[in-house]
Amino acid sequence: MEKTIEQIKDEAIKAVVAASDPESIKNLSILYLGRKGIVTQFLRNVSNLPPEQRPEAGKRANEVKKLLDAAFKEALEKLEAGAGISEEQTDVSLPGRIPRRGFLHPITQITRQICDIFTKMGFEIAEGPEVESDYYNFEALNIPKNHPARDMQDTFYISDNIVLRTHTSPMQVRFMEKNRPPVRVIAPGKVYRCDSDLTHTPMFHQVEGLLVDENVSFGDLKGLLTAFVHRMFDDQTNLRFRPSFFPFTEPSAEVDILCVMCRGKGCRVCSQTGWLEVLGSGMVHPAVFENVGYDTARCTGFAFGMGVERIAMLKYGIDDIRKFFENDFRFLNQF
Ligand code: PHE
Repeated sequence: MEKTIEQIKDEAIKAVVAASDPESIKNLSILYLGRKGIVTQFLRNVSNLPPEQRPEAGKRANEVKKLLDAAFKEALEKLEAGAGISEEQTDVSLPGRIPRRGFLHPITQITRQICDIFTKMGFEIAEGPEVESDYYNFEALNIPKNHPARDMQDTFYISDNIVLRTHTSPMQVRFMEKNRPPVRVIAPGKVYRCDSDLTHTPMFHQVEGLLVDENVSFGDLKGLLTAFVHRMFDDQTNLRFRPSFFPFTEPSAEVDILCVMCRGKGCRVCSQTGWLEVLGSGMVHPAVFENVGYDTARCTGFAFGMGVERIAMLKYGIDDIRKFFENDFRFLNQF
């Protein structure tokens, strides 16, 4: 049996709804409304119907033709407009964009490592001002005005009595003023000296250490610093204590570690000596205890101060200190 015009219409509408691209709509349009299309042929065949059926069938077929024509046009417009959007649609199969994570500056990382090692050994952390009085930076540390030891520290003066601290040692005095023995403290922070070359920048970082109690000996200082160096580098890294002078410690020593590059054989980094200087240290001078009102008959203690950049340079094999502060991402990224 031939299909009725209603069946043809229903089939065509179903096909339009199912079509997913402009091309299939165009094909449907040809299939139904083209020169040899199903609806076109149906219309042609109307003349073969019995005369009384012709007007009704012809009218309905023309209606269906119009209806389908409108349906095809509308579907085509929608699919063509949608094509642009679908290209921008999320491709869930693409790998995600990973947000870049920040990281700590190498100097901050090393400072934290140093602080970690000492806090695990029972030290507390204290911080103090970078703009410091002449008293705390020098005088209380047994460095009187016009003392030649001031020459060692190329000081930035803010005014006659105010300086940018040249070391973290003022924190020894500040801490002892506020705390009674026993004292175990480290003080990390920025310090300033008017100096600039491959191994010096006008601002750099130090970590100060101070331990005060009864019967503290130089042997305790050696033991503590040896444990520190072994943790910071490795336990093959030997230390040597070289007699030195600081007005606020007596006796004083500079500490060298076995060159981390050549392991003592002698190389460019250690100037062929096999050793690298890493910190200053000594037994706290009684004059400093007196300045903070500690009982010099009972108190003994030691102090040390190390340069953070110096330790970072040795640990990472960096030969120019200025790289830390140029903020070149290609450099900083490596840590
Ligand atoms: N403050 C000294 C310096 O900057 C280092 C030091 C600290 C020495 C503590 C002895 C004791 O050179």
